[in-house]
Amino acid sequence: MRLAILGCGTVGSEVVRLLHEQSADLAARIGAPLEIAGIAVRRLGRDRGDLPVAPELFTTDAVGLVKSDDVDVVIEVVGGIEPARSWLVDALRAGKSVVTANKALLAEDGASLHDAAADGGADLYYEAAVAGAIPLLRPLRESLHGDRINRVTGIVNGTTNFILSAMDATGAGFAEALEEATELGYAEADPTADVEGFDAAAKAAILASLAFHTRVGAADVHREGITEVTAADVASAKAMGCTIKLLCIAARGTDAAGRESVSVRVHPAMIPLSHPLASVGDAYNAVFVEAEAAGPLMFYGRGAGGAATASAVLGDVVAVCRNRLAGVHAPSESAYADLAVRPMGEALTRYHVSLDVADRPGVLAAVAGVFARHDVSIATVRQAPAGTEPAGRGVDAVLVIVTHTAPDAALAATVEDLRGLDAVRSIASVLRVEGGE
Ligand code: NDP
Ligand code: HSE
Repeated sequence: MRLAILGCGTVGSEVVRLLHEQSADLAARIGAPLEIAGIAVRRLGRDRGDLPVAPELFTTDAVGLVKSDDVDVVIEVVGGIEPARSWLVDALRAGKSVVTANKALLAEDGASLHDAAADGGADLYYEAAVAGAIPLLRPLRESLHGDRINRVTGIVNGTTNFILSAMDATGAGFAEALEEATELGYAEADPTADVEGFDAAAKAAILASLAFHTRVGAADVHREGITEVTAADVASAKAMGCTIKLLCIAARGTDAAGRESVSVRVHPAMIPLSHPLASVGDAYNAVFVEAEAAGPLMFYGRGAGGAATASAVLGDVVAVCRNRLAGVHAPSESAYADLAVRPMGEALTRYHVSLDVADRPGVLAAVAGVFARHDVSIATVRQAPAGTEPAGRGVDAVLVIVTHTAPDAALAATVEDLRGLDAVRSIASVLRVEGGE
């Protein structure tokens, strides 16, 4: 089996190393040896350490390598939308198997890749695109195909999980925790894709597409990052027996007209310490799947890193090579359900709201009245004299309200109206609450 490797950075160099170190085992598992036909990179002169590969295999001509008749499998570990999309569409249309880790491309325009795979009768595998080393997409795409998945809740971005875990452990603010993540090499020089939730949103789209047999793209995902999460929010969560995580949530539901639909969102949320995802610390990833017959399933492991991600890439390489040798290919994209994606306003969630209020008669009633007007039911109310809350904001009283489940639009409108109440001096924290109702 002849492999074209596109990209030789963090992931690609580990793919090359593992192909070399495990060549005998891989050949035995596949039933044929694997050979590298070429490695496309941007800079031929870049120092690549002592990578165990002949220098003449490197090329800057990715197009030529992809088009070569001498290639069976194209492994894409470059990233980005173009030129990766053109390379992969060409390869798939020509009947070559494709293995990619490119979540951004799959979420932006997975349709083009799946259509090209169907046209060319080719395999498209992308286990490494979501949650790095964790075997997750294959279970969704194969093992759980006899079941009905109702909800997927995940921590799918290691950088933000590291930052939030550090804030929780030390009481640090976002900026300080980001600095630590950068120093330790978890956060990239430009951390926007991670901290603003773009990376997690791409992964949420891929997970939702597989779980619900429906095409979901990045644009369908409601996205909020963690840059607004404060040390006071973290302290508030702790006071409630919770922790804050950046969650991706894909859930089946019913829209206002009674039709089945899905909601897909990424945002920070409080989860109780008893929730299986609460103990996922550091830069680890975990995904909690709730299926009708199987019940709850938890997938946990390293979501990033060269070797960890290369493990998932090589697992796909073995699968597509076996398929080629057997003259078969994996079932094509399953998007038959074609469910509508609900807007965020219709997603059902719960809010935790912390208010600084005047401590005088009628204030609690006025606040409760705003919730009632929006048909939002209050689950718990806690009032503390000023100064006793973790943030000690020097106001008359702090009211902490947690709601029952309601449409997000009703919860957001409630918060907007609370801002207009005379007795509310400020809204100290608003966070969604997940897991537990
Ligand atoms: P890197 O930036 O480390 O490597 C990118 C590689 O692509 C480099 O070798 C670079 O060449 C090459 N390259 C860039 N542009 C071109 C081009 N136009 N033509 C040919 N080669 C090009 O990226 P990563 O290895 O970190 O990530 C690769 C993919 O894996 C991305 O899609 C990413 O989202 C995904 N992924 C990464 C994970 C991780 O932990 N890093 C985890 C899961 C998924 P050169 O070496 O010459 O600069
Ligand atoms: N930047 C990503 C993370 C890498 O922090 O999880 C893996 O996709």
